[in-house]
Amino acid sequence: MHPMIEAFRETAAHRLDPPFWEYVQRGCGMGISVAEAESSWAAYRLRPRTLRDVSTVDLGLDLFGTWSNPVGVAPTAFHKLTHAEGEIATAGAAGAVGSPFVLSSRSTCRIEDVGAAVWGPWWFQVYMTLTREVTEGMVRRAVATGATALVLTVDTPYVGHRNIPDSGRPMEMTDELALVNMGDHLTPQQARAPWSHIDQDPAIGVETIEWLKQISGRPVVVKGVLREDDARLFVDHGADAVWVSAHGGRQLDRAVTPASVLPEIVEAVGDSVPVVVDGGVRDGFDILTALGLGASAVFVGRPALWALASQGRPGVESLLLEYAAELKHVMGLAGVTDLHQIRDACLVR
Ligand SMILES: Cc1cc2nc3c(=O)[nH]c(=O)nc-3n(C[C@H](O)[C@H](O)[C@H](O)COP(=O)(O)O)c2cc1C
Repeated sequence: MHPMIEAFRETAAHRLDPPFWEYVQRGCGMGISVAEAESSWAAYRLRPRTLRDVSTVDLGLDLFGTWSNPVGVAPTAFHKLTHAEGEIATAGAAGAVGSPFVLSSRSTCRIEDVGAAVWGPWWFQVYMTLTREVTEGMVRRAVATGATALVLTVDTPYVGHRNIPDSGRPMEMTDELALVNMGDHLTPQQARAPWSHIDQDPAIGVETIEWLKQISGRPVVVKGVLREDDARLFVDHGADAVWVSAHGGRQLDRAVTPASVLPEIVEAVGDSVPVVVDGGVRDGFDILTALGLGASAVFVGRPALWALASQGRPGVESLLLEYAAELKHVMGLAGVTDLHQIRDACLVR
């Protein structure tokens, strides 16, 4: 792991109350998937090109918005658990450095306040609630506030359970830590329950993709895909991009790692839609590998929360700038000067 990111992780581990730290870190089941995600990127080996002019390396990307950094912030819930400014700080940092930011449905800051903090494009993550008006209301607000794409998370019909003992203390959830975008729909108790599935609908199917596109007029990225047949099915039903993810090992333990299935999913969708990925991405080598395997952009979950817990908004800015700097460096060493060249140019298993 990159030393700066390692330092953020250590600082966050010391700074956060143990139950909050456990919430950020935990995987589900026995934690097998969460443990494997990081190391699986290093199973690939790079095959650099040489004698290319690599004096200038361009990280520019067009993907439902224009970005100067292909490393984005994945949707994660309850940012105020890690820093008092919550999602406003994280979103502001991503916007300032040209990284994609995805706001979770389970945000502790109001959609409108986050949208105002970003200053550019951003995406909104959707959980489908049994009461459709709740999801619809949030989607309409996100679109009105400037969201340029929706991210439909499909790996969470129920919230995964964890079997590993932790500090044994419950999280102390104050009023400031409540989910503020779901309106009166939640009881005050539900609004402060990170492990509750609230009222996500476990019966949703592929028709949800078109429904979301219709009510929002925005492209829909389907997040939580680990199979090529699913990827193809979702594209056939209108998905505008596929997001390979195992939810940071927090849903089905023993699920395959995103790194291991990314190539077959990229191949399955071909050039029809872009593929993005997250899970265990920790440094520039992981990012180069993911892009080399065909991802258009790469997202980080926990590292952004570690940086937020350590230094607030400036910490998240430093993290994303460091990822960009390290990616430029390794792209130069690999002999590629823009994101389009990376794919297939320098990778071998
Ligand atoms: C604390 C935490 C909360 C999360 N909350 C959400 C969420 O609300 N919606 C969602 O789609 N994914 C959520 N995720 C999953 C992330 O979007 C992402 O898939 C995962 O964190 C990537 O793995 P990484 O943490 O190793 O980078 C969460 C992850 C963490 C660690």
